Amino acid sequence: MRVVLGVAGGIAAYKAVLLLRLLREAGHEVRVVPTPSALEFVGRATWEALSGQPVTTHVFEDVDQVAHVAIGQRAELVVVAPATADLLARAAAGRADDLLTATLLVTRAPVLLAPAMHTEMWEHPATVANVATLRARGVHVLEPASGRLTGADTGPGRLPEPEVIAAAALALVHGRGEDLAGRRVVVSAGGTREPLDPVRFLGNRSSGRQGVALARAAAARGAQVTLVAANIDVPPAGSEVVRVGTTAELRDAVRAAAKDADVVVMAAAVSDFRPVNPAADKIKKRADGVAPTIELVENPDVLAELARDRLRDGQVVVGFAAETGDAHGSVLDHGVAKARRKGADLLVVNAVGERVGFGTDTNDVVVVDREGRVVARADGTKDEVAHAVWDAVRPLLDA
Ligand code: CTP
Repeated sequence: MRVVLGVAGGIAAYKAVLLLRLLREAGHEVRVVPTPSALEFVGRATWEALSGQPVTTHVFEDVDQVAHVAIGQRAELVVVAPATADLLARAAAGRADDLLTATLLVTRAPVLLAPAMHTEMWEHPATVANVATLRARGVHVLEPASGRLTGADTGPGRLPEPEVIAAAALALVHGRGEDLAGRRVVVSAGGTREPLDPVRFLGNRSSGRQGVALARAAAARGAQVTLVAANIDVPPAGSEVVRVGTTAELRDAVRAAAKDADVVVMAAAVSDFRPVNPAADKIKKRADGVAPTIELVENPDVLAELARDRLRDGQVVVGFAAETGDAHGSVLDHGVAKARRKGADLLVVNAVGERVGFGTDTNDVVVVDREGRVVARADGTKDEVAHAVWDAVRPLLDA
C-alpha cells in the first residue's frame, strides 16, 4: 500500500521514526512529508534513509513533478504523527501552506491524525472545535494517550505508541475504521503475583501480549482504553495504564475503571489462590530439613463478580479461558462449561501449555457466548486475534 506519513513539528516526531519502520516492515511504501518545522526535530536524512524516498516539505520543491498534487493523489492512506495543535488548526481550516497540508487537501484516501501536544492545548476550545470539524468531515483523529509530556507535566496529549498508530492505520484500510469510537473499555492483561515472602511469589507464565494486543486494537478502533497491567513483559498500550501486582490490586483497579466502561475484558491470568499469611521476612531453610507448608486461600473471581454485578448498565463482560484438554473433556468442552459458570457475555477459549498461548506471538482461539454457542474462531497474530474478539464484541454493544 502507498502510505503518506506526515510529520508535524513536535518533540514526538522521533516516535514517527519508529512508526515509519513499522509501516515499512509491514511491506508498505511510505512517502514521508514533514512540515518545515518538523525537520527541526528529526532531519531529512533520517526520513530519506528509512523510507528510501525523497523528502520534500514545501510546495515549491520538485515543482516539475507537481508534488503537492501528485503525492496526495497517489496515496492510499495518509497518517499524520504527531499532529500538533497547529497542524490540526491548519487542516481544519483547509489551508495549503506547506506540502503536508496541501497533500491533506488533495487526497481522497483515508486520513488518520495522531495528535500530540500539551494537555492545555488539547483541551483548548479551539482545538476541540478543530478536532470536531475534522471528524465531521470523516478524518480519523486518534485520542492522545495520557502520561508524561515533554516537560514535567502529565495528562492527555501524549502521542499514542507507534504500534497503536500503525494498528489504527491498518484497521482503517481494512474497513474496521473507528467502530469503537466513543466507547470506554477496560482490559486486564498479564498475570497476577501473590507474595509468599518479600522476595518470592506465586505466579504464572502470562506475558500480557494478548491483553496488550486487545488494548491496542481497541485504541486503534477509536475506544478510550484503560489497561490494567499485571506484571506484563511487553510495552503497554491504551490511553491509561494502571500497573498492579496482586489479584486484590487488579480487582480494585478493574472495578474502579469498570464503573464507566462499556466493555470489560479480563485477559489477565489471575491467580486462583494466595498465601493466607505472606511472611514478613524471607522464608529460611530450617535446620531440621523440614520444608515449610504454605497455606493458601482462594482469591475472589474477578470475572464472575463483574458478570454478576454489571457495574454499568448494558456493560459487556468478556473473559478468557486458558484450558488444556483432559480425560473429562476437550479444550472447548471446558471453555463452554466455564462460560456458563462465570456468566460472562463472551469467553475467549484458548489452549495453553508449555509452548502454546503463553509468551508466543500467535494464538488460536474460539469465542463462545453464555449459552456455549461458538460465535467466532480466530487464529493468527495476537493483533489479528484481538481484532476478531472486538468484531465479536461489537454487535453486543448495539444490542
Ligand atoms: N479470573 C478472574 N479471577 C480469578 C480467576 C480467573 O477474574 N480469580 C478470570 C480470568 O481473567 C479469565 C477467566 O477468569 O478471564 C478464566 O480464567 P481461568 O484461569 O481459565 O479460569 P479459572 O477460574 O481459574 O477456572 P479453573 O481453575 O476451573 O480452570
